[in-house]
Amino acid sequence: MPSLPSWERPPSDVAAAVRTIKSAIRARIEASGRSIDEIFGVVADLVSVRAGEIRAANGAAGTAWPVLDYADIAAGTVSAESYSLLRRRGCLVVRGHFDREQALNWDRQIVDYVDSNDFFETYRGPGDDFFGTVGSKPEIYPIYWSHAQMQARQSERMANVQTFLNSLWHHTSEGTEWFEPDRNVLYPDRIRRRPEGATSKGLGAHIDAGTFDLWMKAEYQQAFRHVFDGSIEQFDPWSAAHRTSGSQYPSTTMTSVFRTFQGWTALSDMDHDQGVLQAIPIPEAIAYLLLRPLLGDVADDDMCGMIPGQVFPVTERWHAPLLEALSGSPDIGAGDSVWWHGDMPHAVAPVIDQQGWGNVMYIPAAPWCPRNEDYAAAALAALTSGASPSDFPDEHYEQSWPNRFQTDELNHYGRQSLGLD
Ligand SMILES: [Fe+2]
Repeated sequence: MPSLPSWERPPSDVAAAVRTIKSAIRARIEASGRSIDEIFGVVADLVSVRAGEIRAANGAAGTAWPVLDYADIAAGTVSAESYSLLRRRGCLVVRGHFDREQALNWDRQIVDYVDSNDFFETYRGPGDDFFGTVGSKPEIYPIYWSHAQMQARQSERMANVQTFLNSLWHHTSEGTEWFEPDRNVLYPDRIRRRPEGATSKGLGAHIDAGTFDLWMKAEYQQAFRHVFDGSIEQFDPWSAAHRTSGSQYPSTTMTSVFRTFQGWTALSDMDHDQGVLQAIPIPEAIAYLLLRPLLGDVADDDMCGMIPGQVFPVTERWHAPLLEALSGSPDIGAGDSVWWHGDMPHAVAPVIDQQGWGNVMYIPAAPWCPRNEDYAAAALAALTSGASPSDFPDEHYEQSWPNRFQTDELNHYGRQSLGLD
């Protein structure tokens, strides 16, 4: 079978590299005896069946999103039916992940933290144009090191849910343990705060997992080998094989770590019609996104509107059948958490005159593996100096803030997840 060229660093001539990789993948698929249209058709049929199922679930039960109680995760009493629905949908809400009063307290602490350091008087606006491809300016702030965020990140309750989520993935294959499901990396991310009365366009649909690198880096070509070699029926979106070493192409905003699930913890109540998170709850959607630019109606040098340095957009023009499955989360209470498979397309719904606040802390599930261990060292260095973590723009608001979280306040989970124990 023809091999694929790869670029370990971003190509200097992106358009030329896109032309080269697209024709190489097409040739590889055709060498299997199948056409690109046939392979894409397999995925498109699956998407169509799932979208119908998801729309029906959104109508009948009110939501296609699986919902679990934290108590069942902690006690290990999640049913086999719940597991299979989780694997089918790739997203979930964890009710009562944290005590409601705890979450509301954290929300107040974050306000005190940023107010005491005059953050909103000095905030210079977004540090990059990462969401330019989806035409959005999300209300996401570059705050990483509050006590509230660190307490949540290093809590036993967070570790329990992360370990549960990791276990939905297949972490061992080909004689390799790709990651350790019961040990997690502390991944510092930002906060979103959307005030009462806010009118927001939300955030257009996108994926976080990567951009051009998903087609162009050798490691991703291995991870998605069944998408690119004509054996699409064997593609398993829950396989961690070849996902846990290597890295993304650098960008001002990126995801150096392998995340089994991206997620956030709610610090306020958010009803389902108040600009909530939306997901396309089809874990196989990534195969659709990777194959779509190879079809004949996309220009040879175009990856369906992707722009270097910006997020991977999921759009009506190129991905309409996927967007038919876009499903908003149910009502979320303070202390609940919301999770979606790390490759899954997601968006934030627009809202007009929002009722109540819409505040969250982003905390993903990133299990221990070579790739994440590397980043843990970078995260520890950023914590120590109060810098913005290296996956995010160089904004560094907190370096001079006296009341940020300090390294000597790490507990066992915090130390373990930063590689100190
Ligand atoms: Fe995202």
